[in-house]
Amino acid sequence: MIPEELSPLLDQAATRQLTHVALLVRDYDEAIAWFTQRLGFRLVEDTTLAPGKRWVVVAPAADGGGCSLLLARAATPAQEAVIGRQGGGRVFLFLETTDFARDHALLAQKGVLFTETPRVEPYGTVAVFQDLHGNRWDLVERRHAASPVSPGTETTPSSPSGDVRVRRLGPAEAASFIPALADILIDCVEGGASVSFMPPMTRDKAARFWRMVADGVASGERALLVAEDSAGEPLGTVQLVLAMPENQPHRADLAKMLVHRRGRRRGVAAQLLAAAEDAARAEGRSLLVLDAVTDGDAARLYSRAGWQRVGDIPGFALMPDGSACSTTYFYKALDPAGTCNASPTTIQ
Ligand SMILES: CC(C)(COP(=O)(O)OP(=O)(O)OC[C@H]1O[C@@H](n2cnc3c(N)ncnc32)[C@H](O)[C@@H]1OP(=O)(O)O)[C@@H](O)C(=O)NCCC(=O)NCCS
Repeated sequence: MIPEELSPLLDQAATRQLTHVALLVRDYDEAIAWFTQRLGFRLVEDTTLAPGKRWVVVAPAADGGGCSLLLARAATPAQEAVIGRQGGGRVFLFLETTDFARDHALLAQKGVLFTETPRVEPYGTVAVFQDLHGNRWDLVERRHAASPVSPGTETTPSSPSGDVRVRRLGPAEAASFIPALADILIDCVEGGASVSFMPPMTRDKAARFWRMVADGVASGERALLVAEDSAGEPLGTVQLVLAMPENQPHRADLAKMLVHRRGRRRGVAAQLLAAAEDAARAEGRSLLVLDAVTDGDAARLYSRAGWQRVGDIPGFALMPDGSACSTTYFYKALDPAGTCNASPTTIQ
């Protein structure tokens, strides 16, 4: 709570704003070159104040507006000692973009060091990078609020129970999740889902499948996402197959959308789907393809999320009970703007 006597400071008539953050640097010109040439910042001001002391301001916005960085040359041993460590090891600065995929690709191409692969978090898509001195920054594209929907339209609940978190696993985590993911796969097959496997769905068979997936994550051929409850218990998973022929670099397949029976009908799959689409955008993919059992639970999910139904192939696969089932192919062209919720379509 703001003390009563300070409330005039929030008065709209006389606004205040954060204008500069001072970033300690070793050398003005070295820092200007890094921020302009690598990060694409604009040099807003470079004024000499005194011999050896300049007022150097850089900013991410084309017009130099918004909060900017004051590049402050360290002038004492104490200041030099904290160059690159201003955040004490934590992420110090946050560079927000409306086009994560574009910026991530451009910055990486310019040699900016990303210390992780992009992550999809409930608040958006993010990856940590280091500046020229090692300060940690987030490059982040925030998730937009759900688009308004017209009354009477069938929608996916945009916010599942609020306690579910979807994240993309890195190689080490993918390997450590094998037992939990095996549980989910076994539960789905035992529950009658046609997801490539037939009974008996042994733990060994399931673990071998997830080992192959973890290897694919390590080689960059797959993106693996998991949904966890508030206790960190995995409820569901989905993958993007990123390894595509060289004439389809813009495409990925969505695969193995699996939600444990104990986590169903609370929007977990819908949240996984939105996160997978964000992850695809972050990977620079603009076209996704999948197939699902015709008129099954998953087909409804995809139709609701704006996927286009292409057609059915009768007798494509077997259900776990041995009966034949038809599959339906779907595709989705991802909008480049990165809006996270496609307008819902009626069930086909
Ligand atoms: C298909 C599958 C992934 C859906 O998972 P899910 O997490 O239950 O999906 P959602 O919760 O997003 O949506 C499921 C239903 O719950 C409804 N729902 C979502 N949130 C809800 C809530 N808070 N309250 C009530 N209903 C809700 C949805 O509207 C949807 O309704 P519908 O079945 O009538 O269309 C899951 O059933 C599954 O894993 N099946 C086995 C594996 C499989 O077939 N995978 C597909 C491979 S392509």
